Parts: sequence; C-alpha cells; structure tokens
Amino acid sequence: MIIAHTIEEVRTQIRQARNEGKQIGFVPTMGYLHEGHLSLVKISKRQSDFQVMSIFVNRIQFNDRKDFESYPREYERDFALAEKAGVNLIFLPEEEEMYHNQRTFVEVESLADHLCGATRPGHFRGVCTVVAKLFNIVLPDVSVFGRKDIQQALIIEKMVKDLNFPIRIIIAPTIREEGGLAMSSRNKHLSSDERKRALSINRGLHAAKSRIESGIRRKEEIIAAVRSELEKSTPDKIDYIELVSYETLQPIEHIEGRTILAIAAFFGSTRLIDNMLIEPEGDSFTCVL
Ligand SMILES: Nc1ncnc2c1ncn2[C@@H]1O[C@H](COP(=O)(O)OP(=O)(O)O)[C@@H](O)[C@H]1O
Ligand SMILES: [Mg+2]
Repeated sequence: MIIAHTIEEVRTQIRQARNEGKQIGFVPTMGYLHEGHLSLVKISKRQSDFQVMSIFVNRIQFNDRKDFESYPREYERDFALAEKAGVNLIFLPEEEEMYHNQRTFVEVESLADHLCGATRPGHFRGVCTVVAKLFNIVLPDVSVFGRKDIQQALIIEKMVKDLNFPIRIIIAPTIREEGGLAMSSRNKHLSSDERKRALSINRGLHAAKSRIESGIRRKEEIIAAVRSELEKSTPDKIDYIELVSYETLQPIEHIEGRTILAIAAFFGSTRLIDNMLIEPEGDSFTCVL
C-alpha cells in the first residue's frame, strides 16, 4: 500500500494504474476507520481494480472548532486497517496541500436546506468543495459513500450530475454495531452511559418502522413515536427528527413516495446521526435501516 502526502504523488500513481488498464475506485474519509469505511472499500473493489482512500479531516466542513480539534486521528491504525481491506493508495494530505487561499467553493442548492444543512451552516459547502477537489485529484471511475450520511451522499450525487464529473457514485448500506448504533468515528467520544442511551436512536427508527409498516402515513404520528423513544433516554439535545422526500430532501407531511426519516441528536457533546429509507412497495412501504 502506497501512502501519498502530495497531490503530485497521487497523480503519478493514478497515471501508472491507468496505464496498466485499471479502473480507479475511491473512498473519501476523515480517518479513524471503522467497519463502515471498510465496507465501502469492499464495495468499491467489486467495481474497480485500484483502490484509493483519502484520509483528510476537512476543516472547512466543520462548523464547530471543538468538534474539528477533537475529531479522532490515529493514522498508523488506519493504515493497517486500510491495507488489510485491500486499499492500494492512501492519500493523506496536510491542510496546506489542499488549501491555500481557496476562493472557489461548491454549493448544491436546496438539497442542503434542511436536516444537517440547517443545523450545521456551511457544512455541505465544505463537503462538496473538498470532494470536488479530491475527485479532480484522484480522477476515479467510481466512488462509494455511506448511507449513514444520506443527505451528504445525495448532495454529492447531485453535484456529480450537475457538474458532469465522469464518476459513478454508489451509496452503500449503513453498518451498525451490535445493538444497532450506526458506526461512526465520533462514537469513540461516547461514555459507556452515553453509548447505551444512544441506542434509543435505533429504537426510535424501529418504532417508526413498525408504525409505517402497519399503515400509518402521517408525519406527526411517526415523528411523535420516534421522539418518545428518543426522549426515554434523555438525549442532551435533539437537532432534528424529520421526514423528507428522497428526491428533494424537502420535509413532507404524508408518506407517499420514497422517503427518508432522519435523526440527529447529541449524547453528551457527541452529535450522532442516523436514518431509515422508506420505500414504496406495491400499496405498502418497506423500511430499510
Ligand atoms: N456506519 C457506516 N456505514 C456505512 N458507511 C459509513 C458509516 N459511517 C461512515 N460511513 C461513510 O464513510 C465515509 C467517510 O465518513 P467519515 O466522516 O470519515 O466517517 P464518520 O461519519 O464515521 O465520522 C462517508 O461516505 C460515510 O457516509
Ligand atoms: Mg462523518
């Protein structure tokens, strides 16, 4: 496994892989790898021959300085996990390699109006900008994103379409810990009590699932069921519990088509997100966590 710190090194390696006729797969991350990240590599390997992973804690997508500073970083551990998963090239740039006097930013309109876009101002502008830069550095054929961050994945998909990046985006299922907590690097910050309480996010999604599968369609009733599960575990703050259209990411009142139920809540000072897909199937809906 090659570890590249500069854009030039990445370009050289990619050129070589391309000359060997290889298709390039790309998984962007912020490091502190877990099974969620590794599942993206696994999917990427089925679609391409040369696996690139970036590890870059992208300051411009953080709207909270403390969150940026405390984001877990442990690169030696990441290298070992990535190598075992079959990554061929790691791109681990310093901040100065990525940004000097950046004056160009990428924004996807309207899809960032709600959910994390509303509660984390500037977040998706930072995400889109760094992902666009990484795409231009790595020039992948395919890039895999996790459904845990569904709004992010859909915004990237739209950016790729609107800006004509010749890249296929794949959205991969959410990998969960035992008990159902979605894996996330920030889970490291949870105390054992917070971790236990955070399971209420999953219980909330399941409460909604059983209601939706029994025929309830009205937003109010579904959100109330989720909120009641969450509140039993006294989250330190609920950022949102929202039902949005999969297509537009705008809030809906009634489930009709493809829908996302999304949650963001704090346990201690750790902000966790999770979601469930609600897919029409004949006259009913199936819920996918
Ligand atoms: N539990 C998970 N299951 C599947 N994909 C995940 C999971 N957690 C993160 N990812 C994906 O990994 C990629 C990098 O996310 P990153 O921000 O580094 O991790 P985290 O969200 O855990 O802090 C994103 O595409 C994200 O959606
Ligand atoms: Mg993340």
